[in-house]
Formats: sequence, C-alpha cells, structure tokens
Amino acid sequence: MARALELLDAGQVVALPTETVYGLAADALNPEAVARIFEAKERPRFDPLIVHLPEQKALDHVSKIETEIVPQLTQAFWPGPLTIVLRKRDTIPDIVTAGLETVAIRMSANPIFMKIAAKFGRPIAAPSANRFGQISPTRASHVFDELGGRIALIVDGGPTQHGIESTIVRIVNGSIEILRNGPITAEKLAQFAPIVKGRSSDTVAAPGQLPSHYAPHAKLVVVATLENVLGWSGKRIAALSFRDSTALHRFWTRAYLSERGDLREAAANLFQKLRQLDRQNPDLIVAELVPEEGIGAAINERLRRAAVK
Ligand code: TXA
Ligand code: MG
Repeated sequence: MARALELLDAGQVVALPTETVYGLAADALNPEAVARIFEAKERPRFDPLIVHLPEQKALDHVSKIETEIVPQLTQAFWPGPLTIVLRKRDTIPDIVTAGLETVAIRMSANPIFMKIAAKFGRPIAAPSANRFGQISPTRASHVFDELGGRIALIVDGGPTQHGIESTIVRIVNGSIEILRNGPITAEKLAQFAPIVKGRSSDTVAAPGQLPSHYAPHAKLVVVATLENVLGWSGKRIAALSFRDSTALHRFWTRAYLSERGDLREAAANLFQKLRQLDRQNPDLIVAELVPEEGIGAAINERLRRAAVK
C-alpha cells in the first residue's frame, strides 16, 4: 500500500482491488496521470472514467448536487458499488470525463482501496484494469495477464466480492435512470425514486457503453436454455450455465456459475468462469442466461454484450 501511494503521488498508475472488479488507478486531478491510464489500457479517449472519492464530503468539491435524491443514494449505498453521474465542477480535468459536462462518481467499499484513498486524500480515477473491450479482472492474476509489463504495481486483494462492475445511474426529472446494471439492483434503487431504464441507443449519456464489451477471444452466443443446443458436433463447444445440469455434460468443456443457484455467487464467478473457458480456446462459447431478477439482470446484460463482436 505504501508503494501504491508513492506511485499515485508521482502521477503513475497502479492496479487496485475494489469490491466490484480491479481498477487501474491514478490521481484524478492530474491530467498526465490520467492520460497514463488511457495508454496502459489502450482505451479510446472518448470513453470517460469513474472518479472514486476518499470520503463522502468530497462530493461537493467535484460535482454539483442538484437533487435531494443524490444524498439519499450516497447515504444508503456509499461506500459501495453505486456510481452516480452528476454535473461536474472545474476541479475535474476534461480528460477524465472525455469532455463531458458530467462526471461519474463512486466510493469503493474495498478496505484496501479505502485505506489507500483516505491516505492519498484526493479523488482517484479508475476504470476496470483490463485492456479496452476485454473481460474485467476479478483477480490480481487477471490484471497481470492483461497489463503485466505495462504498469509498475498490482495490489493483490484476492478475488473481488461482487465480481461485476458497479451500477451506474443518473437522475433525470426526479427519476433514477440506470445506465449500467450492477450489484445495486433496480429493486433496491426503486425505494428512492421511480426507475427508468437507460436506453442503449443513448450514446451521449454513456459513451463507453458500446454494445460490444467484456469480449472473450472465442465467439460467444447466449441462449435461453442449453437443453436444445447440440453439444458435440465435431466442434469444440464450451458451455456456461447458471447451475450444474446434465445438459452441461454434452459439451466439450463446461462451467457453471453457482453450485447452490445463488445469483450473487454467480455474479462473483462470472468473469473468472468466462476467462477459464476462453483460455481453453473453444470454437464457440454458448452461455445460458440466468434468471432476470435482482443481480441477474446485470449478469445477463454482460453476457449479451460479450456476445456482440
Ligand atoms: O465497478 C466499477 O465501476 C469499476 C471499478 C474499478 O470502480 N470501474 C469501471 O470503470 O467499471 P469502467 O471505466 O470500466 O466503466 C465506466 C463506465 C464506462 O462505460 C463509461 O462510459 C461510463 O462509466 N461513464 C463514465 N463517465 C460517464 C459519464 N459522465 N456519463 C455517462 N457514463 C459515464
Ligand atoms: Mg471497463
């Protein structure tokens, strides 16, 4: 952690664990440091970054709070996997937001991240620590596979708790618009304001929400059920399902997300299992959708986007 702080102070990038996925962190107020994030990830400059605050009261320093819903959400869910898009203040350099007038903000609940952020005392810009368009890293070894040799330090905090990226919302006319599904579900958010689903065509709202994302190297298709999919056909077909099932065993290789059929456990395992199947170099990955309830919506959203090439 001391080395991470030295690097952040020096305007360098460092991979840190968060409770969602590993992030590639740099000083959000230093444009050169932020530029190093884009270089290491080969991320296009039009894709804005999430800013992680060291403490709740820093929110007013970086953004304008224009509705009561915002403090209600931050009190309920921060620190935690909820990112809120707000009108930005001039303190945030344009490179962070890709020139947008808004900034995406959250506070991580990972104890290692929190300690480093508190000692650093400044906001930290951090996208997921993968190369652009690839599967988000949920273990330090995933970061090493993608960015080893390009960054000076990876802080290993073990497998991440949630395994999928934070929920992203913005407030529109008193409603909560979900721009990316995640661990804070629509059901939980609905206690605070009506929910409107973010339109995927809304490219201005979330420029980084490109349809193709989280892509494994192998071609991937999603199906409602594996029951009707022919397993062995001379092709090396990998199957991914929610729970273990007899249908799985027809396939060349296979993985399931949760032994006990728990959606939270499934989310935590998703990217690890996708990587595990992808590493075996199948001709095709067939992924079965999970129940579309609670965090299941976020899992399915990622599977569908992994299927777009
Ligand atoms: O859980 C997470 O959110 C992780 C950890 C590291 O915090 N971070 C993460 O960052 O997933 P990234 O960069 O992989 O995804 C951030 C998404 C991108 O799709 C980006 O376009 C969107 O947030 N975003 C950032 N700023 C935005 C803004 N001002 N308006 C709309 N969308 C924004
Ligand atoms: Mg990402």
